[in-house]
Amino acid sequence: MRIAITGSNGKLGRAVVERLTRDGHEVVGFDRSGPAGSGFTLVDLLDYGQTLDAMLGVTARHDGVDALVHLAAIPVNGLVPDATTFHNNLTVSFNVMFAALRAGVRTIVAASSITAMGFPFDEPPPYLPVDEGFTAANNTYGLAKVLEEAMFAQLVRWQESTSITALRFTNVVGEDEYDSFALAGDPSYRRDLLGSYLDVRDGAELVALALTHARPGLETYVAAAPDSGLEIPSRELAATWCPGVELRRPLGEHESLVSSEKARRELGFEARHLWRHEYRGSRSE
Ligand SMILES: NC(=O)c1ccc[n+]([C@@H]2O[C@H](COP(=O)([O-])OP(=O)(O)OC[C@H]3O[C@@H](n4cnc5c(N)ncnc54)[C@H](O)[C@@H]3O)[C@@H](O)[C@H]2O)c1
Repeated sequence: MRIAITGSNGKLGRAVVERLTRDGHEVVGFDRSGPAGSGFTLVDLLDYGQTLDAMLGVTARHDGVDALVHLAAIPVNGLVPDATTFHNNLTVSFNVMFAALRAGVRTIVAASSITAMGFPFDEPPPYLPVDEGFTAANNTYGLAKVLEEAMFAQLVRWQESTSITALRFTNVVGEDEYDSFALAGDPSYRRDLLGSYLDVRDGAELVALALTHARPGLETYVAAAPDSGLEIPSRELAATWCPGVELRRPLGEHESLVSSEKARRELGFEARHLWRHEYRGSRSE
């Protein structure tokens, strides 16, 4: 397939480009920053004209795409003013999704976030492990993700046989970002993520699986490693961080409090890069 990837020069985007290229796909990257190169085009996705034109074709690059992976966003609050995060991300998502549908693209995978399901969890979720059944936003980045998911639910109905998969990523850890797991014995480590993490290569694997299993309609999946990023048993973390919150099932010793069970069950997703293998340093208790 020829696949357009927005945000192709970002952390997740680079891993997805590498993964889908390795799988034999032709990849077309769109980002507002990044080095010139074959298969890559500088596009300001805030501009609908640029976005639609790039989706339809780019001379010497492509003449249309079969599928879209939409990753472009400002990935967290704090980098720019809060309202700018909201305006950029919501507008970019509308422009990209609407342009793709106008261009005849019917298979779409888009990045959502656990900020659409309660991050930073100052108010505990109603049950643990928390999953796709819970939606709540507590900042402008999360608010845009919740509204994007709501927009996808409507857009997916407008053209027959459209498939949109929204992946609610937790914190994505790059191959060179495992040093912070030195703090895995500290009960405040990853508190705002309920202890969760996901290796960037596993994130790319889930994108590939979502493309393979695409079927008409909108599906939402949590994207997290199956284990927590802490040494402390998960029952203890749940009791400390979310006292009195219902445990939907008995927790495995280091089971993640953010569940990707639906992705495992429906897409066959198994995260392969777990911090207990990837982290090379010594741990503080
Ligand atoms: N990194 C994480 O921990 C994490 C967690 C949850 C969800 N996500 C989501 O995953 C996706 C990818 O995140 P990432 O970590 O790779 O972020 P990143 O910042 O590394 O990459 C995002 C890319 O989007 C591009 N972009 C942003 N606005 C643009 C615009 N107006 N026009 C063109 N390009 C634009 C940026 O230039 C950047 O290269 C995002 O949607 C993010 O919200 C990331």
